[in-house]
Amino acid sequence: MKDRIDAILKRSQAEYLETLTPDRDGLLVRMEEFAAENDHPIADPEVAQFVRVLIGARKPKHLLEVGTNIGYSVVVMGRALEPDATLETIEIERGTLARARSFVADAELECRVIFHEGAALEVIPKLAGPFDFVFIDCVKTEYGDYLDALLPKMKSGAVIVYDNLLWKGRVAEGVHDATTDALRAFNKRITNDPRLITSILPLGDGTGVSLVR
Ligand SMILES: C[S@@+](CC[C@H](N)C(=O)[O-])C[C@H]1O[C@@H](n2cnc3c(N)ncnc32)[C@H](O)[C@@H]1O
Repeated sequence: MKDRIDAILKRSQAEYLETLTPDRDGLLVRMEEFAAENDHPIADPEVAQFVRVLIGARKPKHLLEVGTNIGYSVVVMGRALEPDATLETIEIERGTLARARSFVADAELECRVIFHEGAALEVIPKLAGPFDFVFIDCVKTEYGDYLDALLPKMKSGAVIVYDNLLWKGRVAEGVHDATTDALRAFNKRITNDPRLITSILPLGDGTGVSLVR
């Protein structure tokens, strides 16, 4: 979730766009409330909507999410998937993962969901792939390492979505700290990597999407 509504866009634009975000059902509202009350960093609703659009267009069958948290984006993606799809997701915190399992059970998804507990950089090498859709929403300083580990497990036509690429406005404002510098370098990399076609959008906290060539 955003720290400030005007961290990326002008306040008037951000407020206007929020009025266009579709209403969520009881489960997603409950998850948003739980996340706000317990300080869980789930995806912004407008990012969730963007992911729904991409999944509806790409119709992926084997997805990987790096960073499960309470399962909000698992529910969002799982509902947009066809029943023969498999969604794998990685979370390091045992208690958070238990909460995710519980919320995802409530969603009664038709697709298969596989939860992995552990550090993403230890889990990813054990996964077979190939993945046709990846959502990277985890440790910001590790985004480059996730990409290095995942690109060999993705075929041409696969889609990668990255959350928080503008990091509360700090990336563009020239702030220097480990996370902001890492994201600035990562943004430069994904927009120049010849294996990818990438667009970075001022959506949510900065959302990137790459097509694997
Ligand atoms: C931004 S949240 C994910 C939000 C989720 N994608 C959603 O939109 O609902 C990032 C999650 O990554 C988890 N995490 C942090 N370090 C990790 C690591 N090294 N490996 C795997 N998960 C990690 C955190 O505990 C947190 O729950």
